[in-house]
Amino acid sequence: MDGYSLAVVIHLFAAIFFLGFVFSDVLILPVLHKDFDKNTVMEIKNSISSRARKIFPITVLILILSGGFMFSKYINSSIGFTGSSLQVLLLIKFLLASIIVLGIIYSLSCKVLKKQPHNVMQKFHTYVLILGIIIIILAKLMFIV
Ligand code: HEM
Repeated sequence: MDGYSLAVVIHLFAAIFFLGFVFSDVLILPVLHKDFDKNTVMEIKNSISSRARKIFPITVLILILSGGFMFSKYINSSIGFTGSSLQVLLLIKFLLASIIVLGIIYSLSCKVLKKQPHNVMQKFHTYVLILGIIIIILAKLMFIV
């Protein structure tokens, strides 16, 4: 297996772990509200978040490193930046992934600085899930169009 194929596999696993967590947080865990009171749900979610805060940044870092490595095959100074639809879609994919990364950095820094995050962050995981789905579609579409 060459370096590029290995990067694709690593990238794919990181994407599965990352979006898998976001998927369950947005679509599965809300079921807790059916069986538990508000405070218990908060405690369960806080407990899960402490684990998520360790795993999230690592999977995102792996996505950026493996993605960046593959990115340099399609976008570089010798073949150009926006000359093909693959390059344009890859750049859009990169920009959407950057929004997720910036959101995570902002959210972690609020935690460290003990600051209240902006209201828009209340639905951050829902936005990440939507962006993640668009990113996956772009990842496949860029090789088809
Ligand atoms: C939330 C972040 C990201 C997610 C969920 C994600 C997800 C994916 C998925 C599912 C694929 C398809 C892999 C396959 O075909 O088996 C892919 C491919 C790719 N991604 Fe990402 N990605 C993310 C971030 C990035 C970043 C930041 C970059 C660039 C810096 C990047 C560059 C690429 C490239 C170049 C491919 C094409 C690989 C290929 O199929 O040959 N990705 N990504």
